[in-house]
Amino acid sequence: AFLLVALPSHAKPSPDVLADIVTKAHAKFKGVKEGANADYIPILTEVPSDLFGIVIITRDGKVYQAGDTDYSFSIQSVSKPFNAALVMQEQGAEALQEKIGVEPTGLPFNSKLALEIMPARSVNPLVNAGAIASVSMVDAKDEAQRWDKVRSNINDFAGAELTLLDKVYTSEYETSWSNRGIANLLFNYGRLYSEPEEALRVYTKMCSLGVNTEQLAMMGATLANHGVNPKTGKRVLDAEHVSKLLAVMLTAGFYDESGIWSYTAGLPAKTGVGGGIVAVVPGEMAIAAFSPRLNKAGNSIRAMKAINYISKELHLNIF
Ligand code: DON
Repeated sequence: AFLLVALPSHAKPSPDVLADIVTKAHAKFKGVKEGANADYIPILTEVPSDLFGIVIITRDGKVYQAGDTDYSFSIQSVSKPFNAALVMQEQGAEALQEKIGVEPTGLPFNSKLALEIMPARSVNPLVNAGAIASVSMVDAKDEAQRWDKVRSNINDFAGAELTLLDKVYTSEYETSWSNRGIANLLFNYGRLYSEPEEALRVYTKMCSLGVNTEQLAMMGATLANHGVNPKTGKRVLDAEHVSKLLAVMLTAGFYDESGIWSYTAGLPAKTGVGGGIVAVVPGEMAIAAFSPRLNKAGNSIRAMKAINYISKELHLNIF
C-alpha cells in the first residue's frame, strides 16, 4: 500500500494566520539593532533608524499590517524591476534580454566591473548599470516625458500617486559620481539609449520616489496577481512578462546576496538602500517590509529577517 505523506503545503493561509504572522514577525525582530542606515546618500542617515513596518497583501487585495507601515521612505532600487516591466511592456521581453541582459552578476549593486567584464548583454535590469539603461530605453521624446512615463508606471503598480522626495533627489544627484560614471561608460559602449545625464536624472528621480510599506506591498501584489493591480483592477504588465521578471528578481534581486536569499527564503524579491524589500509569492501574495538599517550588501536586516521568517512559517518557499 502507498503511504501518503503530508508535505509542507503551499496552501493558501487563512486571514487569521496572515494577520497573526505580521504581528508576530514585527514583535520578533523589532529589537534587532544590527546594521546602519545607508550613508553614501547623505540624507538617508536622517531617516529614523528604528522604523519598522511589515505588510502582506493577497492577490485579491486584502491587507495585513504591523508597525510603521505608512511612513514614506525612498523606494531606491526596489523601483528597478518595475521599470524593467515598463520596458518589457513597451518593447517585449526579448528587447530587455538583448539590450540589457538577464544574467546575475554576483557583484554589488553599483558595480562598474559588472559592465566592464561582461559581454555586451550580460548586465541585468536590477543592478545600477542595467537600471539606468532601462530608464534610457523607455520610449520618450524628451526628458519630461521620460520621467512622466517612468513615474506613472510605478504609480500604476502601487495603485497610488507616489511623491518625489525632493531632498533625497537633491542629496543623491549631487553625489552621483559613481552612477554618472556608469551612465557614461554605458553610453561609450553603445548600451545607453538616451543622453547619459538625462538617463541619470530620471533614474535618480525614480529612486527618490517616496513609497510606504503598504504601497510597496501593493506593487508586489500586482506581480502576484499576474500583472493586474488588485486595488485598481488595471493591468499594468502582461502575464507572460510577469514570470520572466520574477525569474530575474529571484536570481538578482539581492545582488551579491541573491544566492543565499534564494537558498533561504526561496522567493523572488527586490531590496533597496532606503530599507524597503518586497517579496512575491507568485499567484498568491506579496510581503513588503521596511526598516532603514542595512547590512554590508545594502539590504535591510530587519526586513530580510521578517520576510524570511514569514516564508518559513507559512511554507511559502516556491521550491
Ligand atoms: O543608485 C543608487 O545607488 C541608489 N539610487 C539605489 C541603490 C540601491 O537601492 C541598491 N540597493 N540595495
